[in-house]
Amino acid sequence: MKSVTNIADLRGLARRRVPRAFFDYADSGSYEEETLRANRADLQKLKLRQRVLVDVSKRSLATTIAGQPSALPFALAPIGFTGMQHGNGEILAAEAAHAAGIPYTLSTMSICSIEQVAEATGRPFWFQLYVIRDREFTKDILSRARAAKCDTLVLTVDLQLLGQRHRDVKNGMTVPPELRIKNIIDIGTKPAWLWSILNAKSWTFGNLAGHVKGMEKINQLAQWTNQQFDPALNWKDVEWIKSIWPGKLIIKGILDADDARTAVKLGADAIVVSNHGGRQLDGAPSSISMLPGIADAVGNDIEVLFDGGIRTGADILRALALGAHACLIGRAYVYGLGALGGPGVAKAIDILRKELDIAMALTGTNSIAEIGPHLIVEQK
Ligand code: GLV
Repeated sequence: MKSVTNIADLRGLARRRVPRAFFDYADSGSYEEETLRANRADLQKLKLRQRVLVDVSKRSLATTIAGQPSALPFALAPIGFTGMQHGNGEILAAEAAHAAGIPYTLSTMSICSIEQVAEATGRPFWFQLYVIRDREFTKDILSRARAAKCDTLVLTVDLQLLGQRHRDVKNGMTVPPELRIKNIIDIGTKPAWLWSILNAKSWTFGNLAGHVKGMEKINQLAQWTNQQFDPALNWKDVEWIKSIWPGKLIIKGILDADDARTAVKLGADAIVVSNHGGRQLDGAPSSISMLPGIADAVGNDIEVLFDGGIRTGADILRALALGAHACLIGRAYVYGLGALGGPGVAKAIDILRKELDIAMALTGTNSIAEIGPHLIVEQK
């Protein structure tokens, strides 16, 4: 682990250890990957203001996210197929998040089910919802989430249809992996991965199998979204969700100030400014370029969270400086999981924590509340 010094190292390791179809699934963006690249490039363009001779001996990274205390200004984002990056991936990630004192979000499209994660971790976590055509399923999964003591719902609203990820189509990504010669050879060279999967609690979509009719025959993301996701989904459905969900509601996938204002009107507790990690509308602007306008439009009326392209602690500082209250971390921890299992997630969180801490110190910042636009160098 000593040679792992940044998230890019974890990505390199994950690439070698995880079968190609699953590594590519996490790594890809949609279509030409313009938005995927813009997310990173636009973060890197923001230059931080170096300040000196400020007493930064009493730094704290603690904050609250959606009303809950968090040791760090970020949570783990919902990621589909996490349990295919490493066996029991969702449980390992939830445990690492808990140990670091930050929230973990379980995806609807997880491999381990809500119940398996709840039983293994014994702790509350956030649950992410995709609303499908069958509204009974939605009601049912929300009561399962409540029963598992999930108190915060992350409602993803930018994926009622799937943006194509070319690499998934080319790789024939399925769960469990399709037994093509190419895949068998690939898996044969990933024994640690295979061992972890063979010992895992689930090999299929844990939240759906046995709960959605016809799901037994579904093993592909595109097949499932085409059949089950609802292109008619609209704000009225969000009202409905709000009426049946008693906990906190976070709306994820907002990239427009008008949509952000509507989320405020509906009484959501937070929004996530997000383009789904460049995995949906290719050609959409980067999340970071839209963040200041959205943060301005909603002011203090709602908590603004952010995701898209974060690979360093400095990136987190940049997003907070431009108006995010906290961030969601996706690929950065998934690479850690694929690279080293649970300790890899802990490592990813630790890397981001240390990098953020140093970036705060070198910009003369002692607390999360002090972070603001003054930390960014004005570009001419
Ligand atoms: C699902 O959320 C995906 O982006 O694949």
